[in-house]
Amino acid sequence: MIRVESISKHFGGLKAVNDASICIQAGSITGLIGPNGAGKTTLFNLIAGVYRPTSGKIFLDDDDITGLKPHQLFGKGLLRTFQIAHEFSRLTVLENLMMVPGGQIGESLMNTWFKRKDMMREETRIAEKAFDVVEFLNLSHVVNELAGNLSGGQKKLLELGRTMMVDAKVVLLDEVGAGVNRTLLYEIGDAILRLNQERGYTFCMIEHDMEFISRLCDPVIVMAEGAVLAQGAAVEVRSNEQVIEAYLGRGLKNKKQTPSVDHNGHNDVTETKLMDKEDTEASLS
Ligand SMILES: Nc1ncnc2c1ncn2[C@@H]1O[C@H](COP(=O)(O)OP(=O)(O)O)[C@@H](O)[C@H]1O
Ligand SMILES: [Mg+2]
Repeated sequence: MIRVESISKHFGGLKAVNDASICIQAGSITGLIGPNGAGKTTLFNLIAGVYRPTSGKIFLDDDDITGLKPHQLFGKGLLRTFQIAHEFSRLTVLENLMMVPGGQIGESLMNTWFKRKDMMREETRIAEKAFDVVEFLNLSHVVNELAGNLSGGQKKLLELGRTMMVDAKVVLLDEVGAGVNRTLLYEIGDAILRLNQERGYTFCMIEHDMEFISRLCDPVIVMAEGAVLAQGAAVEVRSNEQVIEAYLGRGLKNKKQTPSVDHNGHNDVTETKLMDKEDTEASLS
């Protein structure tokens, strides 16, 4: 569905993404993992049209979408989620959803005052869709709550819900699980699985939590230092020597900076969490 061919993005002398090629198959939930600074977010930004690549090409089905702008890709059903912007925290869940399709709905919300028939009809259609979304995501009980009052996990669900308002085909998720507790993480995972299975969404997600990745993703793509290091089923990837090396190399580097850490770094890496030390600390704090 999405084919990234030999893509590179250089920031000055820094090769954030360096000759990376990946495929996101239609109907898959593809995982993207790798240590901090590996180039994962940059790769997402290239696919989503936020950055123009230094070189390489991106295809959506057979369409060359290289260099298209985010709103053009949005129109093609390819989108990445964004945190609910600050100004939207003072709108309700329902209003947040109804704002999505291109922002025109905000305008028409004001125009409903004039009760133009076609607008009313459009309005109703969008409202129905929004109610379908809240129901699907089990957010019905907070539909009139201000987005700013939602829990961290509910905000993530609302971010997912916004993609449902535009009939997304491919959704890029950058660390949806960050800062979310276990129970909510499970719920978010559930919503992603159901969107995939029941509504045919294709996902590509960046995550650090290997348990989460293993539950949802197949295949998993591993990046390190701007390049694609490995790809395969989660179990395969976890036992891949090179992958372990990529994390371990980083782990050892960190160890030098923090001598208080004991010498079981190997175990940290090969057990459930393939994350570097910064992330481990972040998730514990
Ligand atoms: N806009 C930017 N300008 C300059 N350097 C950047 C920019 N975005 C990312 N980088 C650098 O590119 C590298 C990859 O970053 P990123 O894609 O955010 O990695 P990841 O998401 O895997 O942690 C890092 O060294 C980062 O500092
Ligand atoms: Mg990132």
